[in-house]
Amino acid sequence: MIEKTSEKKERLIEAKTQTSVEESFDLTLRPKTLKDYIGQEKNKEHLKIFLAAAKKRKQPIEHVLFYGPPGLGKTTLAYVLANEMGVQIKMTSGPALERAGDLASLLTNLQSHDILFIDEIHRLPKIVEEVLYPAMEDFAFDIVLGKGPGARSVRLELPKFTIIGATTRIGLLSGPLRDRFGSITRLDYYQDDEIEKIVNRSAKILGLTMNEQASREIAKRARKTPRIANRLLRRVRDFAEVKSDGQITEALANEALDMLEVDSLGLDRNDRMILLALIEKFQGGPVGIGSLAAATSEEEQTIADIYEPYLMRLGFLERTPKGRVATALAYEHLGITIKKQEINTLL
Ligand SMILES: Nc1ncnc2c1ncn2[C@@H]1O[C@H](COP(=O)(O)OP(=O)(O)O)[C@@H](O)[C@H]1O
Ligand SMILES: [Mg+2]
Repeated sequence: MIEKTSEKKERLIEAKTQTSVEESFDLTLRPKTLKDYIGQEKNKEHLKIFLAAAKKRKQPIEHVLFYGPPGLGKTTLAYVLANEMGVQIKMTSGPALERAGDLASLLTNLQSHDILFIDEIHRLPKIVEEVLYPAMEDFAFDIVLGKGPGARSVRLELPKFTIIGATTRIGLLSGPLRDRFGSITRLDYYQDDEIEKIVNRSAKILGLTMNEQASREIAKRARKTPRIANRLLRRVRDFAEVKSDGQITEALANEALDMLEVDSLGLDRNDRMILLALIEKFQGGPVGIGSLAAATSEEEQTIADIYEPYLMRLGFLERTPKGRVATALAYEHLGITIKKQEINTLL
């Protein structure tokens, strides 16, 4: 069945957006052990040692910070760690913790060795961050009772717990907060063959019949991001159920993905619009982001945070001191011939 949700209007290949339909879908597909967690080999090695050491010492694992672009498996890893340690995990997020008291009630309700996962930890309000320091360091929480000269501070002992923080913007984290994590792990984009494994694993869980070429095609267009791979798979599955007997062949996957306007490298209409504006309206650049935003009716922030990182990773766009420049690779991908006068800026 094709799901009719508000998702229709959202960007298919944006890793950040998550709808409730997708959340439950995610839950079924989320790996629960390190063994099932595909890719990120170096990180997994490191985390294995980390887990083994904690188990041996009969201590909770040290506080861990995961950072990297959305959809790469930060939340999943937090669950995996809890599962591997056999402890409970509670979830919260930076913006949800408005006051020190919000954090206090979460922490006092934890049991020894439990994990508190703080998503978007870069958005933690300063006052909450300050009470988090002694909590992380000394497993203690200072509360001030009363007001004025009669006020006194009482120290509350907390169970020994672990904080797992996740952020897409490590640069926005304060130094003191960063320093309190025993391990800081960066998640990077996946290799195409790893994404292919993820697609195959998901297809198996969902009971889909799909051939190798089809999964390779989906993987190729997934922007090296597990969440997008799963999302494309879901759309292709819907398409297969409506248009054929449910079997996912390469031709069918291609047809579905073309209809969704996700091209062979995972670019969608918006990415192409940005590149085309850069090439056609500004002769390939350099052009300031403000002008590019005006020409495409997009916000500067959206261009800089959402579109450009992937375009830069593909080597299609460069940020230079003079502004944004489309590269020869971008022209090639879009099938546009470079005009003579543009060659100088490109080479
Ligand atoms: N290494 C992985 N192996 C298999 N599936 C993964 C992996 N990483 C992420 N996923 C899938 O992608 C989805 C998004 O991952 P998530 O942990 O929510 O990303 P993040 O928290 O970094 O935004 C998960 O629900 C899971 O199904
Ligand atoms: Mg997450």
